[in-house]
Amino acid sequence: MTLPSAIRSVHARRVWDSRGRPTVEAEVALHDGSAGSAIVPAGASKGTREALELRDGGDRFGGLDVQCAVAHVNGEIARAVQGLAADDQATLDARLVALDGTPTKARLGANATLAVSMAAAHAAAAAHGVPLYQYLGGADAALLPMPQIQIFGGGAHAGRRVDIQDFMVVCPGAGSFAQALEWTAEVYRHAGLLMRARGALVGVADEGGWWPAFDTNEMALEALVSAIERAGFVPGEQVAIALDIAASDFGRGGRYTLGLERRELDSDGLIELLLRWCERFPIASIEDPLGEDDAPGFTRFTAAVGHRLQVVGDDFLVSSAALVGEAAAAGAANAVLLKPNQRGTLTETLQCWDAARALGYAGIVSARSGETEDTTIVHLAIGWQAGQLKVGSFARGERMAKWNEALRIEERLGARARFAGAAVFGRNGARPPV
Ligand code: PGA
Ligand code: ZN
Repeated sequence: MTLPSAIRSVHARRVWDSRGRPTVEAEVALHDGSAGSAIVPAGASKGTREALELRDGGDRFGGLDVQCAVAHVNGEIARAVQGLAADDQATLDARLVALDGTPTKARLGANATLAVSMAAAHAAAAAHGVPLYQYLGGADAALLPMPQIQIFGGGAHAGRRVDIQDFMVVCPGAGSFAQALEWTAEVYRHAGLLMRARGALVGVADEGGWWPAFDTNEMALEALVSAIERAGFVPGEQVAIALDIAASDFGRGGRYTLGLERRELDSDGLIELLLRWCERFPIASIEDPLGEDDAPGFTRFTAAVGHRLQVVGDDFLVSSAALVGEAAAAGAANAVLLKPNQRGTLTETLQCWDAARALGYAGIVSARSGETEDTTIVHLAIGWQAGQLKVGSFARGERMAKWNEALRIEERLGARARFAGAAVFGRNGARPPV
């Protein structure tokens, strides 16, 4: 007998992301008539240990076409998953991993496997007649994440105009997700006014943050504090700073080159600079402070500030349970960014979060710089009770689609909704500065 949740068909097509680049959308249809679809995102400042995103190469669209990945879904993958239960995600994802047969999804492409993995989860939720977050997390899925929202975009997302990639805010003083968005909206607006008043260009970077027309990295931090104050909030208490240094983008082998300041630093030099910023500015969270290959630097930095700040591994941990295990043993970082396309299936991403949580790490479900209208990650953040969500800035449809989806869920949960609040920074004893 065929299970109602058995996969009847899988179909993929090429669609386009927020940078106008090709990406993969998959649709999964079940025997009971339920269906689900999902679109994979794409990063620009990627970790070298991420699962491989399959691109066609050649001249078309700068070599970034995804016709091979689409063909893999419509051919091999569709045949291999037909008849599997969409609501047995672990078995489905294990089939995708085995079918690919490489450690990095290099044959089929993580963009092919993730599209199917996520679309199947949507179809399964539809078959069960519940929203995806509830299907994933059951009745416990009522924790709204603390948003990390970019105000200035830099690094690889802004032509390296400044070295640091993400100048973000978090709202430890907010009482709800909706209020955190309201506060951020004011900070974002005041940051734009401030740039305009300085005669700076007021365009936006890849993820919607204001274009970082600054002469030094510190000037961007000062402008962020001004924007928080002008918006009427107490920096560090109500609204604090979260940074993604994305240091792998300007350093290898423990040597870092700050292009904006024409400075060369070794690991200890970069750590000293960041520690000074942590003293001067109300920073609550700092991501990839050192390069992905600088585990000793990560350990030294975490030993210095990990008791009071969130130290996040993105390129450093690439959503890998194994790498989180190694980092924990070395005392490196105390939080992990969770990006499903760094692994290529939902199950492997969840395994990373389960491992991280058991080791006392905080979790931040994250979008990529190349995004679409897909809102799957919002449901993952709530369904997996990650407690934090990072999707870029407070502008551009592909970002707002996610914030707005979380607002809808918060409203729908009503009195059952809980907001992660300042407590998310409390794991491992880390606290936002007051
Ligand atoms: P990416 O950047 O999606 O371009 O890799 C996002 C991040 O570093 O968090
Ligand atoms: Zn990052």
